Amino acid sequence: MDSFEINKIVASILLIALLFIGIGKISDLIFHVEKPKTAGYKVEIPDGNSAMQASETKSEDIDEVDIAALLALGDLAHGEKVFKKCSACHVIEKGGANKIGPALYGVLGRKVASIDDYKYSKALAEYDKEWTFEEMNGYLKKPQSWIKGTKMSFAGLRKEKDRASVILYLNKFSDNPLQLP
Ligand code: HEC
Repeated sequence: MDSFEINKIVASILLIALLFIGIGKISDLIFHVEKPKTAGYKVEIPDGNSAMQASETKSEDIDEVDIAALLALGDLAHGEKVFKKCSACHVIEKGGANKIGPALYGVLGRKVASIDDYKYSKALAEYDKEWTFEEMNGYLKKPQSWIKGTKMSFAGLRKEKDRASVILYLNKFSDNPLQLP
């Protein structure tokens, strides 16, 4: 291979390199795209809280139970039947002992987890509320999700009539039954 041939090879490599660079530059010029100052799409958020407030109150309305209407579905005789499910773990009669669950005489209106000689779960012991109709309804519907960590292993009463009836039944077993709403 003489030097002339080497020169030719070098020259053609250079030419190819130049072509590449050239094409890059040219396409830059042709397809030049202005970069936006901020990346992404702008999402229009309506200002003022009016829309948000409206949707909040809406979801509250759905969560809120009309406890008076719910209790109106209940009847005591049915409540006594429903309570058979509870009596595996609870005694309702006055002076009744704790079983797997705490004694329930007079439970409505008393502070949650207030039987002295019963060892409650941490979840219930720290639940700083009273057993109102609303609280009882929520707890009996789905104990585990109403008070997370409760050790009451009971799936809950799905039917409104069952809950209403058993709540009326609980309320009967008390020295001071709560006034019905
Ligand atoms: C498998 C046993 C079991 C069944 C069935 C059961 N419970 Fe309970 N219940 C418990 C236990 C255990 C606790 C204590 C929960 C804790 O400390 O987290 C409890 C707690 C309670 C409390 C809270 C009492 C307090 O002193 O604050 C109420 C109210 C209650 N149960 C009502 C009912 C009703 C009404 C039913 C039937 C619809 C029922 N339970 C069915 C075991 C049971």
